[in-house]
Amino acid sequence: MLSDNIRYDESGDLLFAGVRTKDLADKYGTPLYLMDEDRIRANCRMYLSAMGAAFDGNWEILYACKAACYKALIQTVAEEGLSLDVVSSGEILTAVRAGFPMDRVYFHSNNKTEKDLVFALEQGVGTVVVDQLSELALLSRIAEARSEDQDILLRLTPGIDTHTYEAINTGKVDSKFGFAIETGQAVDAIELALSLPGIRLKGYHCHVGSQVFGEDVFERSAEVMLRFTDEIGQRTGYYPEILDLGGGYGVRYTEDDPEVSIPDKIASLARTVRAVCAELSMDVPRILLEPGRSIVADAGMTLYTVGNVKRIPGYKNYVSVDGGMTDNPRYALYGAKYTVLPAVLSMKSRFDADLVGRCCESGDIIQPNVSLPEEMKPGDLVAVCTTGAYHYSMASNYNRIPRPPVVFLHDGQDRLAVRGETLEDLLQYDL
Ligand code: LLP
Repeated sequence: MLSDNIRYDESGDLLFAGVRTKDLADKYGTPLYLMDEDRIRANCRMYLSAMGAAFDGNWEILYACKAACYKALIQTVAEEGLSLDVVSSGEILTAVRAGFPMDRVYFHSNNKTEKDLVFALEQGVGTVVVDQLSELALLSRIAEARSEDQDILLRLTPGIDTHTYEAINTGKVDSKFGFAIETGQAVDAIELALSLPGIRLKGYHCHVGSQVFGEDVFERSAEVMLRFTDEIGQRTGYYPEILDLGGGYGVRYTEDDPEVSIPDKIASLARTVRAVCAELSMDVPRILLEPGRSIVADAGMTLYTVGNVKRIPGYKNYVSVDGGMTDNPRYALYGAKYTVLPAVLSMKSRFDADLVGRCCESGDIIQPNVSLPEEMKPGDLVAVCTTGAYHYSMASNYNRIPRPPVVFLHDGQDRLAVRGETLEDLLQYDL
């Protein structure tokens, strides 16, 4: 199986986190997002222990909550002792309402508005990750007016191409994010940050991409960042306390994806960081990582009920389900691959079909060319695996379709974490 929280029992029923998916569909309806809480906690602990082993106490793990953000999840990562990466006032408010310690919150975004920055400071956000020169000046003004000094990191662009999907490749020089090292803009930003009142420059940040499997991507970006740190240190005497290397470790959506050992990756990253720092006679800064996907992706599964099964002889087959690009836009956006499983194991023959949604457009495909049991019929259940990251958080109400609920699974028990939207919810803002 793709992940050890997915299996079929002796009677051929699909279990997720030890719970029969059919029972969950009966209880909550479909489409349904499931989240294996125990897996989320295990993933958090895996990061914490790997960092602990690799970086001698001077490190921090931030959960990048753009991957999935609602109170139950933020509370879970808070309990596990992680810090938080947020990118909007909405994510900040969710953290506040979840009771997250706000001094452990880092606020990113390439285009924070004045309103966002004021809100962030009012809510006690610990660190702002500044992305643009105009933001530096604005933040300095806001912090000064509040007679406060605000901790910041500067987002730098190390010029690393990760060869992941183009839309989520962010570390290249021509990226919309951050200050490029290569063009000298990073130096300008550091000099300005050091000169402005109301701002305490704590260090540098970079994030090169997401769903990254490249062998040495993180090592290369760490090395670029450290050599640049040394260059600035020699020139100005400023050495940062913090080096935040972003998120991005890849996860398995299908059996074809490589198995990545994140502890091994972190150990190798630590070796590079130590070696480069030793060569430069520089203290090892506090190292931060910002995983999103690898904390929650394999904790998720989406259940759907099959509606129409359409066979076009000599052409192709379609299996339509009661969700689609509204709860999972990732095939439409990135051509993302998935593992699709029937909720009842069938030994009978199989046929290939496109698993499609219920939206009014042909691009509403969850996954093309899926092998499914030949006898698949309306009312059957199918599961799409690895949907814990960037699914609920990217869901929409296109075609006025309500968002599904999220159910947490812990120790064989289920509980509603986010209720599903009703038709009335869809009309609540219409005047
Ligand atoms: N830190 C920063 C600054 C980021 O921009 C991101 C992701 C992360 C951390 C977390 O990266 P992760 O560990 O999750 O790979 N919607 C796309 C993914 C967009 C990622 C954006 N930034 C998808 O569905 O694949």
